[in-house]
Amino acid sequence: MFAPQGPTLRELAVQALSSVEHGYDLLAPKFDLTPFRTPEVILASVAGVLDGLGPFGRGLDLCCGTGAGLDVLGKVCRDGVTGVDISAGMLAVAARAHPEATLLRADARALPLSDGLFDLAVSFGAFGHFLPKERPNLFARTYAALRPGGRFAFPVVAPFRPGSPGYLALLGFDTAMRVRNALWRPPFVMYYRGFRLSDVRRELAAVGFGVELYALEELGRRRDGSPRARLVVATK
Ligand SMILES: C[S@@+](CC[C@H](N)C(=O)[O-])C[C@H]1O[C@@H](n2cnc3c(N)ncnc32)[C@H](O)[C@@H]1O
Repeated sequence: MFAPQGPTLRELAVQALSSVEHGYDLLAPKFDLTPFRTPEVILASVAGVLDGLGPFGRGLDLCCGTGAGLDVLGKVCRDGVTGVDISAGMLAVAARAHPEATLLRADARALPLSDGLFDLAVSFGAFGHFLPKERPNLFARTYAALRPGGRFAFPVVAPFRPGSPGYLALLGFDTAMRVRNALWRPPFVMYYRGFRLSDVRRELAAVGFGVELYALEELGRRRDGSPRARLVVATK
């Protein structure tokens, strides 16, 4: 699962016992060698859908990490890209790979950006770091950062069938994080099971977005014919 040059088990354990911000600072130099970086197949598939909806002007990558989403924005945005992340370490890596990008260290829950600046916002692999009760504010801040007609896009993977290996792995991970957070401070919020498409659609609509879904065909289909992953495109 991890490349040989990736983080050791000990390094991952130290990261997981830190705060989210410090944990990612520690992981940053080896982050691109972990499966936590959004895989290329997802990035390419998202870029393909956005290409059909664009071109866009200014792009924003929320929780950009080392810059996976900046690559996508670079393909579909004509007027520059901005990445926001809470971890200075992750931003330092992103800055080396993306000298063209404007990078801002900030908490996505309190975006220090002027209203109406962006035509497209994306986010990859980060929603598990937000508690469900924090999402309405996160979505409202993103809505404010977009110009009228601007889009907020992010991929969502279909939930695993109850009892399947993927389901059990995610359940085990989620349970381990909850036990860890009951016993240890500071907390490290990373609960991916709490991100349900039906809730997210309702929350996006509640802040004013119109929501559409696009199948990410490159990710394949499930046995029942439904897409394995979709792109949520929320329009202001
Ligand atoms: C799993 S990484 C994903 C990085 C990148 N988007 C990707 O797909 O490879 C999650 C990122 O979210 C950032 N993050 C977590 N909580 C955040 C917050 N409240 N505000 C801004 N960034 C945050 C972390 O620092 C980390 O870089």
